[in-house]
Amino acid sequence: MAAIRLARSSFLSANPCLMAAISPQVRLAQTAAAAQPEQRLKTFSIYRWDPERPGDKPHMQNYQVDLNDCGPMVLDALIKIKNEMDPTLTFRRSCREGICGSCSMNIAGSNTLACLCKIDANTSKSTKIYPLPHMYVVKDIVPDMGNFYAQYMSIEPYLKKKGIQESDVGKESYLQSVSDRAKLDGLYECILCACCSSSCPSYWWNQDKYLGPAVLMQAYRWIVDSRDDYKKERLQSLEGTYKLFKCHTILNCTQVCPKGLNPALAIAEIKKMLAQGK
Ligand code: SF4
Ligand code: SF4
Ligand code: FES
Repeated sequence: MAAIRLARSSFLSANPCLMAAISPQVRLAQTAAAAQPEQRLKTFSIYRWDPERPGDKPHMQNYQVDLNDCGPMVLDALIKIKNEMDPTLTFRRSCREGICGSCSMNIAGSNTLACLCKIDANTSKSTKIYPLPHMYVVKDIVPDMGNFYAQYMSIEPYLKKKGIQESDVGKESYLQSVSDRAKLDGLYECILCACCSSSCPSYWWNQDKYLGPAVLMQAYRWIVDSRDDYKKERLQSLEGTYKLFKCHTILNCTQVCPKGLNPALAIAEIKKMLAQGK
């Protein structure tokens, strides 16, 4: 067969008139076929569970994706799998650029955002994808964030003022110095993805009572906001054995934060403030 192909191509190149007779489309297809690189098939092993399928048990399902035909991030591979192979695969995503916090999951053993996580190009190794650990699962890799959001609401994550005058309404009354505003840097950037909280062993075992690093960092964000009038009350609300003090400074939280934030430091600062009676 190869000999016939070789004979045909040398016959054609020796006869330029015949060469010209081959349509441009055929020539384009031949060039494209010759330029086609070898497939780079990567296996993604993904946690699957559908509560609406009677008797379904959590299991891992493998999908093979050609890395030559896929974007560079794990979220690109998940979208490709859903669009081209299995529309039943369920995951959360929105912004695809590390802003919305919805694509958090456990990839290759670490909590992170699928849209910021590069695919490991080593095709001899599969990439395992699970939901965030120690969270209830809604379906596949979608965790139940209900408790996490309820905890966030419990710290009242908004500006609270005392004695607001009627004359203040509609005016830009709550000014802040540049240095006070700078105190919020490294705190306000949190996108509430819960990668940190669901990597914290204290949170795994006590998430009904311990607030966890993400929510505590947001509590701190409002405690140090110079415009807020409820610093004392906010601090008092965190006292007790569980809400704050279940943090044992293991630092998993800071290690995994995909935004490079430091919730463990924020927690340490709250503990210091309480110890100093501030
Ligand atoms: S430092 Fe505290 S919040 Fe962070 S992982 Fe450790 S115990 Fe959890
Ligand atoms: S601190 Fe980091 S890991 Fe934790 S919720 Fe915020 S952005 Fe996510
Ligand atoms: S899709 Fe928004 S953070 Fe990943």
